[in-house]
Order: sequence, then C-alpha cells, then structure tokens
Amino acid sequence: MAELHPACAPLAFLLGTWQGTGTGVYPTIEDFSFAEEVTFAHVGKPFLAYSQKTKDTGTGLPLHTETGFLRPQGDGRLELVLVQPSGIAEVLVGNVEGRDIQLVSTAVLVTDSAKPVTATQRRFWMDGEVLHSSVAMAAMGLELQHHVVSEMYCLS
Ligand code: HEM
Repeated sequence: MAELHPACAPLAFLLGTWQGTGTGVYPTIEDFSFAEEVTFAHVGKPFLAYSQKTKDTGTGLPLHTETGFLRPQGDGRLELVLVQPSGIAEVLVGNVEGRDIQLVSTAVLVTDSAKPVTATQRRFWMDGEVLHSSVAMAAMGLELQHHVVSEMYCLS
C-alpha cells in the first residue's frame, strides 16, 4: 500500500470505513433517520477519496449517496469536491483544526432536473472514537439550515 502523502497527514484520523446512524430534518419534508457508511481512502497522492451511502433505518432501502475528493492545501486549508446522483455537485473550502473539519460551499451546481440547492455547509468532527458528520443546506428556496447529522464508528 502506498505511503500517505505528507499533505494528507492532518486528515489521517479519517482513514478507514465508518458506520453508524443519523437523523435528518428540513422544513419541506418529514423527519427521517438513516444508517450511514463512509469510507476515506488514499492512494499516496495529495487527496483523500470520500464515498458515502445511506439507508432508510426502517425499510433498509437506499437513501442519499455521494462521492468526492478532499484536497488538503497546506496550513490546514481544505477543498472538497463532491457529486450526488440527485444531480447536485458541490465545491467547498474550509479548514481542519485538530480533528474538526468545517467546510462551506463556494459553488453548488445542479442539473436541470435536480431539486434547487444553492449553498451547503459541512462538518466532520471526532469526539473520542466517534466520527460525527453534519450537513446544512440552502434548498427549496429556503435559507441555509441544518439537514442531517450522524455518528459513526470506525470498522478497521
Ligand atoms: C446523510 C445524507 C443525507 C440523507 C440521508 C438525506 C436524506 C433525505 C431524505 C430522506 C429526503 C426526503 C425525501 C427525498 O426527497 O428524497 C431528503 C430531501 C432532500 N435532500 Fe437530503 N439527505 C442527505 C444529504 C443531502 C445533501 C448533502 C443534500 C444537498 C447538498 C441534500 C439535498 C436534499 C434536497 C434538496 C431534498 C429535497 C427537499 C424537498 O423536496 O423539499 N440532502 N434528503
């Protein structure tokens, strides 16, 4: 296996596959809960590959999924590029401080048929052995607000 690129050292705490559960809300939809699996992987280059999939806790059916790349820029600065099969693509910038990553979108692009999303904010943070992930979004013509949060444990 390739050695971790030195630029990725501040992100090493993310490496592996994580599983857990979360909850979601938005003013336009019913509250929901989900099971989530996230993987952060590296190939020795200065980025981490990120993939995520979720399932409905009740029915086990697939819900949201997304994939992208986390690109460290030095001095704790980060870029994240992400795509979703719902026709949404996000570009975010932010920082890693210790084991806390916070990102805000600089661009959100949607296909003609996608639901309208104009901005996102994301956070990944560790609390002991638990990886937390959260997303806020400005969507459906509403202001930026909380959508999902989850807690996951590392499998490896
Ligand atoms: C853990 C991650 C996520 C889960 C489990 C999740 C799940 C859901 C569910 C169950 C709904 C309601 C049913 C539906 O319309 O499909 C929904 C709606 C929606 N989600 Fe998410 N979501 C996640 C992340 C995101 C992200 C990252 C975005 C955009 C950046 C997003 C954008 C939307 C939009 C635009 C709607 C439609 C709201 C409406 O129709 O009024 N979601 N999500």
